[in-house]
Amino acid sequence: MTSPHQALVSSDVALRARLGKARQMTDSLFPLLRPDALYNRPIPERHRLIFYLGHLEAFDWNLIAGQAFGIEPFHAEFDKLFAFGIDPVDGGLPTDQPADWPREKEIRAYNTRVRARLDQLLPETESALLHVAIEHRLMHAETLAYLFHQLPLDSKLLPRWEKANAAPEAPPRMVAMPAGTAVLGQPRGETAFGWDNEFEELCVTVPAFRADVFPVTNAQFLQFVREGGYDRQALWSAEDWAWKNKSALTHPCFWRWDGREWRLRTMFAEVPLPPDWPVFVSHAEASAYARWAGKRLPTETQWHRMAYGTPQGDERPYPWGDAVPDRQRGNFDFAHWNPTPVQAHPRGNSAFGVADLLGNGWEWTSTPFKPLPGFQAFRFYPGYSANFFDGKHYVMKGGSARTAACMLRRSFRNWFQPHYSYVYSKFRCVEE
Ligand SMILES: [Fe+2]
Repeated sequence: MTSPHQALVSSDVALRARLGKARQMTDSLFPLLRPDALYNRPIPERHRLIFYLGHLEAFDWNLIAGQAFGIEPFHAEFDKLFAFGIDPVDGGLPTDQPADWPREKEIRAYNTRVRARLDQLLPETESALLHVAIEHRLMHAETLAYLFHQLPLDSKLLPRWEKANAAPEAPPRMVAMPAGTAVLGQPRGETAFGWDNEFEELCVTVPAFRADVFPVTNAQFLQFVREGGYDRQALWSAEDWAWKNKSALTHPCFWRWDGREWRLRTMFAEVPLPPDWPVFVSHAEASAYARWAGKRLPTETQWHRMAYGTPQGDERPYPWGDAVPDRQRGNFDFAHWNPTPVQAHPRGNSAFGVADLLGNGWEWTSTPFKPLPGFQAFRFYPGYSANFFDGKHYVMKGGSARTAACMLRRSFRNWFQPHYSYVYSKFRCVEE
């Protein structure tokens, strides 16, 4: 077998082992569903769950066997059907029915055949493609979690009882961030992997500002709800207001009022609203809260500054320094199914004392998702980022409990449209 990318062929056994572990991770998710849930569509803007069962293998097949090796398809129909997810912006919801999708058995047979053939090709597969396959799969381990989250509780099988972490109370406060520089992205080179939108490096001067030490909690957001935040048009942009009204939204989508108290839908249970967990909301709701509080959402560069900057003027790879992520530093890498209190991981604090930056929920920024100067789309996946440079998506930083550790690197950027409520997305505010 000869590869068209022979010069870049990886002999890296470690990468193949990582792909194996990523497969185990996604394989471990589907058994959490009761069998009849597989054809549900828990989020109206997304495909039915059955799509994802085929998508993970079809993506790898198309990327590696199809594009890199030019191998003839053995199931072209599935390669196409399961190639891409969907992200409609305001309207145009999918209307397909369960019967429009193949049977689970056929998809599982396809998956088995894909893996067997790919395993023969992997030793000669270029490293960048292995990284893409690994991270794409791990990203879906997260998207599957928030899709499963929206299923009725009785559609899921509880893996184990998860005790809510307790942590001493920590009142909200702000910290002064002196003016300095923030380094976004990473230089184009041979060494580190990054998605196309992480290149190239960009150094930005950031004026002084003040930042919330902790993300906004359920208790804080409840004040906003009680003071009529969802009814005050002045707090919302025109588009956000129209969307909120159309969706009849009166509180965060993970919350439920039971007639007596507010409750939170966690992954496997409904619990009284934990006051010190971060609130998960859309960009629109986060922006309205910030306006109500007389503050703003941070820009992407402000977020970098508070997370990675130091009083000495240098930048560090992680908020806490150089050490690779471990579970003492934050709620990430599949450590939990649910959030922890915002003050639960002081060992993850940044040099400026800002807490809970990596993990426990992605953080919204006010920065529309745009290419960094020098951007080049991946030749093998041209639409990964470029399809979303439409001014209708905002950068998110940080990570959630279900974000793999490899994606906690400084240059990693996530993005979502402002009217998407289902992702594990928290926020904090700044003052200029
Ligand atoms: Fe995907």
